[in-house]
Amino acid sequence: MSPEALANCITGWQKAKGRNDLPWQLHNDPYHVLVSELMLQQTQVKTVIPYFERWLQTFPTIEALASASEDEVMTLWQGLGYYRRARNLHAAAQKVVRDYQSEIPRSAAELKEIPGIGPYTVGAIRAFAFDAPAAIVDGNVKRLFARLFALPYEVNKSTNDRYFWQLAEHFTPARDNRRFAQGLLDLGATICKPQQPLCALCPLAKVCQALQLGKVNALPKRQQK
Ligand code: ADE
Repeated sequence: MSPEALANCITGWQKAKGRNDLPWQLHNDPYHVLVSELMLQQTQVKTVIPYFERWLQTFPTIEALASASEDEVMTLWQGLGYYRRARNLHAAAQKVVRDYQSEIPRSAAELKEIPGIGPYTVGAIRAFAFDAPAAIVDGNVKRLFARLFALPYEVNKSTNDRYFWQLAEHFTPARDNRRFAQGLLDLGATICKPQQPLCALCPLAKVCQALQLGKVNALPKRQQK
């Protein structure tokens, strides 16, 4: 399948059936994207939403967050777990205010030096905040690609990550990647689910290798631990 055909299919589906009213999508503000992506690293969308809204009420700007005390930050994060994310978010805000005049940078090289921002989050900020043609790979994207191309690579083996990143980069469109990236996550979360995927509703059903081969439930492969 050509990158253009895949991108058209996914962006067309996203527009019609994807999630387009999540609170961090309202303004495409880079600070909103940063906050939401750190919250979403280990937590589900529906849990994150009220925390995200409280966060913006308390710290409406990156400067407000940077100048808050650690106590205020940790208190507001209370209940979300994985508290290192809160410390990272606070440190990230301080670095952006100090080193980048409060503007979250656009380049991958600068973003990856910011606390809490790994390869997935670099791509997510570039795609969602700036609509840049940056790849994203998370568990949803790996599962979708593993099924779409009936890949033999175990998704829980980190040495395989490079195959998924290569594929994701190959298919990342030059235009409208914000919608394409959101479409990948939405398809992975709502259609190409780990259990009981909804293949009858999938815009990729006609081209899905796993579906043609009757292997949807056998993919993605996982290494026994
Ligand atoms: N998980 C991480 N980023 C997301 C987003 N923008 N929408 C839905 N789920 C996500």
